[in-house]
Amino acid sequence: MGDGLVNVITVTVNGRSYSEAVEPRLLLSDFLRHSLGLTGTHVGCEHGVCGACTVRLDGAAVRSCLLLAVQADGASIETVEGLAANGDLHALQEAFRKHHALQCGFCTSGILMAAADLLENRDEVPTREEIVDMLSGHLCRCTGYEPIVNAIAEVAGS
Ligand code: FES
Ligand code: FES
Repeated sequence: MGDGLVNVITVTVNGRSYSEAVEPRLLLSDFLRHSLGLTGTHVGCEHGVCGACTVRLDGAAVRSCLLLAVQADGASIETVEGLAANGDLHALQEAFRKHHALQCGFCTSGILMAAADLLENRDEVPTREEIVDMLSGHLCRCTGYEPIVNAIAEVAGS
């Protein structure tokens, strides 16, 4: 930590409150991974292109590599670790398993968080085209996008 350059932020992550000292330049992605140990949020490009670092901030999907931890002060954050509830996988996680929508899994947590945002933050069922459009912001090097689209569409009912 730098002299006099430390801020204390308070955030709620997956329903649990944390108050942590952070340097002003610390990225939210690094805060989640290194300060809180929530390594399910992955870091690929670190400049907003690959989508691997996507989390939900006050309900909206954001790229945690494009935010500073201090910008999240007072916010409620959900990471992939918060998707499963009471030991039960989220419907999206179950669908990804069923449709073989992941291989190495590097992209998966970011896609799951963006898909959760797509499904919960709109009044209408997203179309397959809208799911594909959402996925255009996420790079997967392994699986091919078809099973990912199928998994999300099944949960969406589209
Ligand atoms: Fe954030 Fe790639 S690591 S978008
Ligand atoms: Fe490997 Fe998507 S499953 S990058």
